[in-house]
Amino acid sequence: MEHSELRYNNNGTIYDPEDFTTWNWGDYDYPLACREIRDGDAQYLYPVMKRSAKMLKGYVEWAKYSPSWDFKTVSQFVKDHVEDELPRFHLVFMIGKQIVGFGSLAPVNENLKDVQVALWVGLGHQGKGIGQWIVQTLEFYAFNVFGFDRVYYQHDSSNRASGKLPQKLGYKWSHTFDVEKHAVNETGFWYSWVKVRPRETAAGLLDLGHMENWADVTMPWKCMI
Ligand SMILES: CC(C)(COP(=O)(O)OP(=O)(O)OC[C@H]1O[C@@H](n2cnc3c(N)ncnc32)[C@H](O)[C@@H]1OP(=O)(O)O)[C@@H](O)C(=O)NCCC(=O)NCCS
Repeated sequence: MEHSELRYNNNGTIYDPEDFTTWNWGDYDYPLACREIRDGDAQYLYPVMKRSAKMLKGYVEWAKYSPSWDFKTVSQFVKDHVEDELPRFHLVFMIGKQIVGFGSLAPVNENLKDVQVALWVGLGHQGKGIGQWIVQTLEFYAFNVFGFDRVYYQHDSSNRASGKLPQKLGYKWSHTFDVEKHAVNETGFWYSWVKVRPRETAAGLLDLGHMENWADVTMPWKCMI
């Protein structure tokens, strides 16, 4: 870019129309970024989990216990998630130094090449496209990095906000099922949507048995925490 053409974000950083990593997310002062959860994340997760619990408890199991949680409990939550093994995999999503959402891959059935996505977006950050980006990022990991064949999106039938996502993101209807109720608004009657791995996708971990083709790859966005 010529100097005279420089455009700036409202926090003073340079906005490059050809480089999405410089685009601030919506009205925020920073881009949306993500990384794998790691030890020490309790300091960032504790505030957003405590603040959002009342709003999330309708459809997220941990949120109903969260009123009694202290920092130590959140640290244990982080430790458990860090120690999870595939198909369990967890990403924290941030804007600047604030965590705004959380996304996971988790087992869905007996088929080792099937996986499901799960997510929540923090209080004050919903309805801004963050949920859609979380699902798309999880799909990227599922299909490309790990090599799963099918990604499922499952939600309680009464969870209308969640139900919009798979339909917007090109999932196909799969089936319904009954499950024990965990979160307070759940009916126990669930809808399941599925997306199949695109044909041209390069081999991933499950195809090759190793991650060598991803060893030197870093995600283009920058995480501030
Ligand atoms: C479901 C959830 C993850 C969606 O995340 P989000 O960041 O708000 O979603 P997006 O902004 O990407 O919006 C996706 C679509 O859903 C719609 N939507 C988002 N929140 C909504 C709400 N509370 N009610 C109705 N529609 C809603 C958006 O309007 C958007 O559609 P549009 O582009 O036509 O406007 C979020 O609402 C959430 O965390 N809910 C509580 C936890 C939960 O239910 N998790 C899923 C368990 S299966």
